[in-house]
Amino acid sequence: MNIIISPSLLAADMGNLEQELNTIKNSGIHDLHIDVMDGNFVPNIAFGPDQVKMLRAFSTLHFDVHMMVNDPDRYIKAFVDAGADSITVHAEACTHLHRSIQVIKGFGKKAGVALNPATPLDVLRYLYSTLDVVLIMTVNPGYGGQKNITKMNQKIKELSEVKQAGDYQFEIQVDGGINQHNILDVMQAGATNIVIGSAAFQKNKTQQNIEVFHKIIRDASL
Ligand code: DX5
Ligand code: ZN
Repeated sequence: MNIIISPSLLAADMGNLEQELNTIKNSGIHDLHIDVMDGNFVPNIAFGPDQVKMLRAFSTLHFDVHMMVNDPDRYIKAFVDAGADSITVHAEACTHLHRSIQVIKGFGKKAGVALNPATPLDVLRYLYSTLDVVLIMTVNPGYGGQKNITKMNQKIKELSEVKQAGDYQFEIQVDGGINQHNILDVMQAGATNIVIGSAAFQKNKTQQNIEVFHKIIRDASL
């Protein structure tokens, strides 16, 4: 099975971004997870379209933009213009979730929906066939470095069963508190796209960390 590792920019060294992105690319990474926070939907503030545009100028990585923003439709075009390849919005932040997905897809970009830990899968029942990514939050969003909520393994498993039963194509992405000790658990539950922040980017250890994750994935050969 093809597992994608998507390192989270939030944990990178902001003073050395070009070097940080080169390090992960040279370690065989193709995706970059970019957390956008509005200080409203989540308590923290992070990354706007201008920063994404700046990164796009020197990176060919797949930019996976995770919008932790209320009413994200207001900003979708700005992130597309800045260079986003896929955009994920939160079900809890959209009044018209189906429309938000259509807006993203209308720009020819991959569309995802994120669910907070307390949000049941059922809100996606009529959307599964239109989605490229379903993001199961394994922490309450807003900060890197939090502890993984292990109960979410059950939710990942249930989603994986829905995916198989419906023969859906979406990636099952997980985000929050994933490290070398629990990555296998989320993979075994059915995750196919794994966001890793603080356990990936670390001064002088990023390449080594990513090699360990790649080895775990190879050895698991699910
Ligand atoms: C949490 C963010 C995550 C975060 C993950 O609100 O959406 O992407 O950066 O970081 P870690 O892996 O440190 O939990
Ligand atoms: Zn995220």
